[in-house]
Amino acid sequence: MSDDNINGIYIFGEHIAHEEVQGMNLRGYIQLVKDAVGPNKINKGVFIRKEKFLENTTLFRCPICKNAITTCGLNSIVCLKGHCFDIARTGYLNFLQRTVKTEYDEELFSSRNIVSEKGFFDPMLRCIGDMIIKNLAEAGNRNVIILDAGCGEGSHLGKIINDLQSKSAGKVQGVGIDISKEGIIMASKAYSDIIWCVADLANLPLMNQRFDVIINILSPSNYEEFTRVLRDDGILIKVVPGSNYLKELRDIFYDVNKQDCSNHKVIDHYSRNFRVLDIQTVKYNKTVDRDELLHIMAMTPLSWRTTNERKVRARNAGINCITMDFTVIKGIKKGR
Ligand SMILES: C[S@@+](CC[C@H](N)C(=O)[O-])C[C@H]1O[C@@H](n2cnc3c(N)ncnc32)[C@H](O)[C@@H]1O
Ligand SMILES: [Zn+2]
Repeated sequence: MSDDNINGIYIFGEHIAHEEVQGMNLRGYIQLVKDAVGPNKINKGVFIRKEKFLENTTLFRCPICKNAITTCGLNSIVCLKGHCFDIARTGYLNFLQRTVKTEYDEELFSSRNIVSEKGFFDPMLRCIGDMIIKNLAEAGNRNVIILDAGCGEGSHLGKIINDLQSKSAGKVQGVGIDISKEGIIMASKAYSDIIWCVADLANLPLMNQRFDVIINILSPSNYEEFTRVLRDDGILIKVVPGSNYLKELRDIFYDVNKQDCSNHKVIDHYSRNFRVLDIQTVKYNKTVDRDELLHIMAMTPLSWRTTNERKVRARNAGINCITMDFTVIKGIKKGR
């Protein structure tokens, strides 16, 4: 028996009469289940993830016909033209019509998650949090809706929101989008207060001008879409690797002329589309043990473009310290 079985009448093991459910809209249905099993059980279940989406349907639009979206039972949503998208058991939404197979697989995301949980990205995430707090303070500390475009396994958005919630009085709602289903599945299991979607950032299933902040960490950008969904007073924070990012690995993986990881072209492209307000370099070294080094090698696309022989060499090179180097760019829409 599934714990979110809506056609069957068991929710978290509690029986609810079928007649009570028929003809009821989703909000009424959720209330019915809450009354039946008590709010404490609900908070721990997948139910809360679906409710979170229900509360925020106005943020979304159909990626096919661009019309508004409404819910359709507990397990799907439908647009005004009838295009239907699934809400998965763990509560994420799938806006893709077919699964896109990429090199970002479960193994990569699980290593990325381990590296993230060990704090390797924390100083960079704190820099993003500080930029958002500063912006909120200037805007009068109102509620904030954040989009993470290319969120991967979700821990960056999760940590940033936890940080903001401990520092700011306003309400923070996060939406994470990634084209990789594997990443979104992991994210949706770990962070139930955030809305997670499998979607293409080049065709965001989001309404115009709803987001106060877009973050885009080590992921591709689509500035046309970012401009469309960002509020006119919103900010875009993009993180690109600095020239020394994971230098110890790149020195072994590539020949000397290919080792440089210059980000000038990316910054130029950003500044052609958004007005740059601030650029911060966040650079630090972290000691690594062998296990951590293996996860770093498994989480980075840098490993895709080298030979097995070089990867073996890197594993056995006695690397015990790794360089983290990020460029964090904050900007606003052009013309503001
Ligand atoms: C290097 S990972 C970074 C993930 C995460 N931001 C992090 O820093 O751990 C790049 C991410 O971009 C996502 N991505 C690539 N193309 C995308 C697209 N068109 N739409 C949405 N996500 C995309 C990948 O699936 C992957 O999760
Ligand atoms: Zn549609």
